[in-house]
Amino acid sequence: MENNRCKHLMIMLLCSFNTIFNLSLAIAKQTETYIVHLRPPITDHPVAATEDLESRYNTFLHTTLQDFDEKPSMVYMYRNVINGFAATLTAEQAREIEKQDGAISARPQRLLSLHTTHTPNFLGLHQNFGFWRGSNYGKGVIIGVLDTGITPCHPSFNDTGVAPPPAKWKGKCEVPGCNNKLIGARNFVSGSMGGTGSPLDDGGHGTHTASTAGGNFVEGANALGNDYGTAVGMAPFAHIAMYKVCNETSCGESDILAAMDAAIEEGVDVLSLSLGGESVPFYNDTVAIGAYAAIRKGIFVSCSAGNSGPFNASLSNEAPWILTVGASTVDRKVTATVKLGNNVLLDGESVFQPKNFTKSLLPLVYPGLNRSKNAMFCAPGSLNNTDVKGKVVICLKGGGIPRVAKGQEVKGAGGAAMILVNARIDGSSILADTHVLPASYVDYKQALAILNYMNSTASPVATIIFRGTVIGYKSAPQVSSFSSRGPNLASPGILKPDIIGPGVSILAAWPTYADSTTTITTTTAPFNVISGTSMSCPHLSGIATLLKSAHPDWSPAAIKSAIMTTADVINLNYQPIQDERELPASLFAVGAGHVNPCKANNPGLIYDIQADDYIPYLCGLGYSNAQVTTIVQKQVSCSNVSSNPEAELNYPAFAITMSGNMTKSFTRTVTNVGDAHSCYTVKVIISPCMRVKVSPSRLVFSAVNQRLSYKVTFIPVDQSAGSNQFVEGAIVWNSIKHSVRSPISIKYI
Ligand SMILES: *[C@@H]1O[C@H](CO)[C@@H](O)[C@H](O)[C@H]1NC(C)=O
Ligand SMILES: *[C@@H]1O[C@H](CO)[C@@H](O)[C@H](O)[C@H]1NC(C)=O
Ligand SMILES: *[C@@H]1O[C@H](CO)[C@@H](O)[C@H](O)[C@H]1NC(C)=O
Ligand SMILES: *[C@@H]1O[C@H](CO)[C@@H](O)[C@H](O)[C@H]1NC(C)=O
Ligand SMILES: *[C@@H]1O[C@H](CO)[C@@H](O)[C@H](O)[C@H]1NC(C)=O
Ligand SMILES: *[C@@H]1O[C@H](CO)[C@@H](O)[C@H](O)[C@H]1NC(C)=O
Ligand SMILES: *[C@@H]1O[C@H](CO)[C@@H](O)[C@H](O)[C@H]1NC(C)=O
Ligand SMILES: *[C@@H]1O[C@H](CO)[C@@H](O)[C@H](O)[C@H]1NC(C)=O
Ligand SMILES: *[C@@H]1O[C@H](CO)[C@@H](O)[C@H](O)[C@H]1NC(C)=O
Ligand SMILES: *[C@@H]1O[C@H](CO)[C@@H](O)[C@H](O)[C@H]1NC(C)=O
Repeated sequence: MENNRCKHLMIMLLCSFNTIFNLSLAIAKQTETYIVHLRPPITDHPVAATEDLESRYNTFLHTTLQDFDEKPSMVYMYRNVINGFAATLTAEQAREIEKQDGAISARPQRLLSLHTTHTPNFLGLHQNFGFWRGSNYGKGVIIGVLDTGITPCHPSFNDTGVAPPPAKWKGKCEVPGCNNKLIGARNFVSGSMGGTGSPLDDGGHGTHTASTAGGNFVEGANALGNDYGTAVGMAPFAHIAMYKVCNETSCGESDILAAMDAAIEEGVDVLSLSLGGESVPFYNDTVAIGAYAAIRKGIFVSCSAGNSGPFNASLSNEAPWILTVGASTVDRKVTATVKLGNNVLLDGESVFQPKNFTKSLLPLVYPGLNRSKNAMFCAPGSLNNTDVKGKVVICLKGGGIPRVAKGQEVKGAGGAAMILVNARIDGSSILADTHVLPASYVDYKQALAILNYMNSTASPVATIIFRGTVIGYKSAPQVSSFSSRGPNLASPGILKPDIIGPGVSILAAWPTYADSTTTITTTTAPFNVISGTSMSCPHLSGIATLLKSAHPDWSPAAIKSAIMTTADVINLNYQPIQDERELPASLFAVGAGHVNPCKANNPGLIYDIQADDYIPYLCGLGYSNAQVTTIVQKQVSCSNVSSNPEAELNYPAFAITMSGNMTKSFTRTVTNVGDAHSCYTVKVIISPCMRVKVSPSRLVFSAVNQRLSYKVTFIPVDQSAGSNQFVEGAIVWNSIKHSVRSPISIKYI
């Protein structure tokens, strides 16, 4: 009896312990920021009054979750980008919300990452004549940049020559130092992400991208004394509005949506986003959803393709209404030449160009050869107890170790200099970094030459000769190894990336001197040289700005078409643009080619697309009604709209799939934006295993803005082409003045 009572007590105790334990679990229940998509109201009025929306969202949230102990908290209420809001919720609360009739989805936000000037002249933009003057250097156009913040008083954002913003501008400046150049600066980074509440740039990325897109002329710009010359953005007389959505590494989706929501409302004309995540369906892709709302308002959206190359299918930002920008080299290098003991000279790159580095040959070692993999990559700590003192040390690129960190390891271990070498996969793709010691970054072929030399002698020696800025590398433009590659996973019927632009060793504004210990500079303000599709994206944002200024009536799709159909497909050597393996680059690396701004200003024909044209396309992707509604913000019933195959979208490129002997036909419509009376004939470039019929083969226009359609039929000739093989080609419409080129990618399954 006693025993039993005791037992009972014990159990009671255990039970109450359990209860206490459960309670504390409940209190500490994980909350996260969720993005909640609601069904649009039946009435089709576009944006409800603020109070209507706020009370609708608040009522929905608090009524739905009234039985929960922990109270949800509203983070953002969106007006333009989605029907819905962001809130801090537990997983259970999110599930409860999803059960409601008025809800489509509640999804935890993802964290996206940043895709970390000579370039105007390289792109054919010259002061005082041609397209730059013709477009008034972007006058009157507002570029919204979503990034890490801004450095207001940097001379790149001086407003000399810049007119006041247009009357439609409703933006805000939350920091002193705004002017007619920098007309907006707002912070959307929350405290939980280390936000300071200020739109000032913590990292430097945002200052760099904003000045690349729309920075003003700054004479005598340089980084560590190199790249001396005038630095200027693509659209020097445009306005810039910074929306800070990222800390130094990450960007929250709810903040990105809030910034896009504000930018649309405040009146930007172009949005530039050098950030992204992995491929997801468009209904789960915040940037795609926000961008759709933007293009519906006529706002052009340019995004980085990602830095996950050279691996296939590694793209971010794949939606057809976004311009997806890959990265290419320019013809300028900050040269650091490796001199070997056998007198062979190999041109590598480094921004840090010490003037006093020894000219005598030093012992050359490759610790990775007989040590660990870590030593091969010069990983932190891997060179401890290795005899590298006073020597030139070879480090292999990659292994997850940042390039500059490898130099830090060599320097820390007493090495005199570093030669950073590419593995085969990165081929000939190199770039200039702000290294902490004398260094040179060489490509794969050069790496083999160095290793061969090391094999040929018992006591290899080398040094590095710093030659400063050298212009005229004719292999440019070349697709950078890091630039993300297609095919497009979210929509295989849309060829991506769309375009490549300068993204390797780009000089632009920076908040602080790159490295206070090594900086030798003559400018009054800091600049830095960095690389990434983060750098190529704002080049294209700036070029779109110039086009918008020159052609205010062009839709986002028209601007995109003009950029794509006029792109260059050859390099400065008149050879096909190469990728890092020195082969002609595939369409999944170059897209339509390398941007040619002057030609884009006068494309002859454009492939236009209206916002509603994407609805049958989205239905054709197999999305549910709710998923399409999530993106287009109106009730869609796919059974009521025609559902089109992806390749039927009026896109300025073709990506099609063929199986067996099946033929496929698509219709395209072109609009004449050249001379009223113009005549185009078609030319098809394709491998012999495929026949392409275009009908009609001549298009005769008699008016500006006249639209004509043509039908393309793909007919397999040789079915021996194996499965999963890709065939490339192009359809080119030629007139006396114009050449309107659409790339074709065909996959055999
Ligand atoms: C899309 O998001 C929903 C909600 O988070 C998730 O359940 C689903 O797996 C996602 N779909 C894909 C294909 O990523
Ligand atoms: C802006 O540039 C002009 C012309 O170079 C110069 O006179 C002026 O002082 C600069 N303004 C600021 C705030 O630096
Ligand atoms: C940036 O945000 C991420 C995600 O919240 C966080 O892990 C990281 O520590 C933040 N970085 C800084 C520098 O605050
Ligand atoms: C990418 O795909 C192409 C075409 O299928 C193939 O030739 C190439 O080897 C692939 N590249 C990589 C890095 O996987
Ligand atoms: C080169 O100059 C820098 C800065 O003056 C100095 O720190 C470094 O020790 C010098 N290096 C050599 C090899 O003399
Ligand atoms: C690598 O091994 C060789 C002989 O096995 C030795 O002479 C050399 O010092 C080693 N190199 C390094 C960097 O440890
Ligand atoms: C290498 O040496 C550094 C400095 O002496 C030390 O902090 C680090 O722990 C060492 N790492 C390894 C892997 O031995
Ligand atoms: C150098 O010699 C080693 C051993 O003989 C060999 O494995 C390696 O492939 C050679 N490297 C080059 C680049 O020739
Ligand atoms: C779809 O069509 C049906 C029948 O024609 C109609 O009743 C329904 O309202 C339509 N739905 C939408 C969303 O247009
Ligand atoms: C295509 O191939 C199938 C089976 O291989 C054959 O029956 C059919 O006649 C072919 N069609 C054409 C148009 O050649």
